[in-house]
Amino acid sequence: MKKNILCIGAGYVGGPTMAVMADRCPECRIRVADLNAARIRAWQSGEPPIYEPGLKEIVARTLNRNLFFTADADAAIEEAEIIFVSVNTPTKTFGEGAGRAADLQYWEKTARQIKAHARTPKIVVEKSTVPVRTAEAMEYILNAGGGVRFEVLSNPEFLAEGTAIEDLLHPDRVLIGGRDTPEGRAAVAELVELYAHWVPRERILTAGVWSSELSKLAANAFLAQRISSINALSAICETTGADVAEVARAVGMDSRIGPRFLKAGVGFGGSCFKKDLLNLVYLCESNGLPEAAHYWRQVVEMNEYQRRRFVRGMLAHMFNTVVDKRIAVFGFAFKADTGDTRESPAIHICRQLAEERAKLVVHDPKALENARIDLADLGDAVRYEPDPYRAAEGAHAIALLTDWALYRELDYRRIYEAMVKPACIFDGRNALDHGALFEIGFNVYAIGKPPRAH
Ligand code: NAD
Ligand code: UGA
Repeated sequence: MKKNILCIGAGYVGGPTMAVMADRCPECRIRVADLNAARIRAWQSGEPPIYEPGLKEIVARTLNRNLFFTADADAAIEEAEIIFVSVNTPTKTFGEGAGRAADLQYWEKTARQIKAHARTPKIVVEKSTVPVRTAEAMEYILNAGGGVRFEVLSNPEFLAEGTAIEDLLHPDRVLIGGRDTPEGRAAVAELVELYAHWVPRERILTAGVWSSELSKLAANAFLAQRISSINALSAICETTGADVAEVARAVGMDSRIGPRFLKAGVGFGGSCFKKDLLNLVYLCESNGLPEAAHYWRQVVEMNEYQRRRFVRGMLAHMFNTVVDKRIAVFGFAFKADTGDTRESPAIHICRQLAEERAKLVVHDPKALENARIDLADLGDAVRYEPDPYRAAEGAHAIALLTDWALYRELDYRRIYEAMVKPACIFDGRNALDHGALFEIGFNVYAIGKPPRAH
C-alpha cells in the first residue's frame, strides 16, 4: 500500500467519504475509527449504519480490501500519514456561546489523542465544519511542547445527504486550505494528489486555511438563505393569490440567480444549516459585528416562522381545532433519500400538533426508528406505521413533510375513501399533483399556493 490514511469519525461524512476514497484510490489503505462501537460493528458487517443511495455497493467493493473500520483509533494513528478528522461539531448547549457557538470538545479531544499516539510527522485534515481559525488552535495543541511535527489542512466537505455518493464522486469543487509555507504547500500538494485520482484538477481549489474554513460556513449560509427567501415569499404568495412555484421559476430563470434551492416548503432541516448559521452568527458577534450577526440570524428565524405558519394554517383549515383528530404524517426525515432526522422540520411540526392534542400517525420509509427516538416523550400521542395506507386510515388530514418519491405514487383515491371527510391534504413540500387530489375530493393546501377547497 502506497499510503496509510486514517479518518477519525465514522458518521454521515467520514463513512461515505472514506468509502469513495478507498474505491478511487485502491493503492491507499484507509482506516475509519469511531468511539461508537455499535456504529463500527455495523460498518464492519457491510450494512452501513446510515442509509445513503449507492453507499452499500461501494462499501461491498472496498470493505476489507483497502477500507477497514476500527473502534481503536489509538492503534491506527501511528501508522497513518494523513489523518482526516470528521467528528461531530454540534452547537454548544452550555456555557459561553450556548445555542450559537460550535462545541469543539470532540475536535480538541481528537487532536490531543493524535498528539498522544503519533511518533512520526502527520498531515491532519480538518473535515468537520468548524469556526474560522480552529485549525490554528489545533495546530497549537498538536505542536505544543515540540516533538513530532504536524501540518493542519482545512478540507471542508460539501456533500448533501441523500446524494452523498454522487456528490463525492463528482463534486462541484474540492477545497483545500493550507498555510503558505514550504511545509504547508507540500501538505496541500499531497492532498491534491489524493483527490486528483478521481476529481478533475480544475475542480480542486486551494486557498488559505481561514478562507477555506469560512467558505464552508458561507456556502451553507447562502444555501439556507435562499430557502428562507423563497419561504418568506411563499407567505406573501398565500396572502396575495400568487403561486410560489411560478415565482420561483420566473426568478430562477435569471441566469444570475439560477433555479436550484428555490423550493418552498416547511423549512430546512438537517444537522448543519442551522448549526452553521448560528456558528456564523456567533463569529460575527464575537468579532464585534452585531449587524452582520443579525442579518444571518434572520435566516434561522424565518425558517422557524415557516414551520409555525404551516401548523397555524393546518389549524385554520381544520376549524381551529385538531383535538383528538387523527393526522397522518407522511415523511419524517429532514429530506428524501435519507433516514436522518436531525433538525427535521417534522420533529417541530409533530410536537406542535401534539401540543394541540392531535393524534399522530407517522410514516416514513427510512426514518421511523429515528422518529420513535425523537418523539419518545410524546408516548401514545404518536403511532409509527410502516404502511402509508394504514397511516391514513381514519385520518382527518395528511401532512406531507418529506418529499419522498413514493408519496407521489400512492393511490390517493384509495386513501381518500379510508379517511374522515372532509379530508385534507397539507402538502408541506409542494410534491403532489394538487389538481388530481382536488378532483378526487380532497381539500388541498400547499405552501405558497392558493388553497383548493370544496
Ligand atoms: P456524525 O455525528 O454522523 O459523525 C461523527 C462521528 O464522530 C460520530 O460517530 C462520533 O461517535 C465520532 N466521534 C466523535 N469524537 C470521536 C473521537 N474522539 N474518536 C472517534 N470518533 C469520534 O456527524 P457527521 O454528520 O458525519 O458530521 C461530521 C462533521 O462534518 C460535522 O462537523 C458536520 O458539520 C460536517 N458535515 C456534515 C455533513 C452531513 O451531511 N452530515 C456534510 C458536510 C459537513
Ligand atoms: C447541506 C448542503 O447542501 C451541503 O452542501 C452541505 O455539505 C451540508 O448541508 C452540510 O454541511 O451538512 P444537506 O443538509 O444534507 O446538505 O441537504 P440539502 O439538500 O442541502 O437540504 C437541506 C434542507 O433544505 C432539507 O430539509 C431540504 O428539504 C431543504 N430544502 C432544500 C428546501 O426546503 N428547499 C430547497 O430548495 C432545497
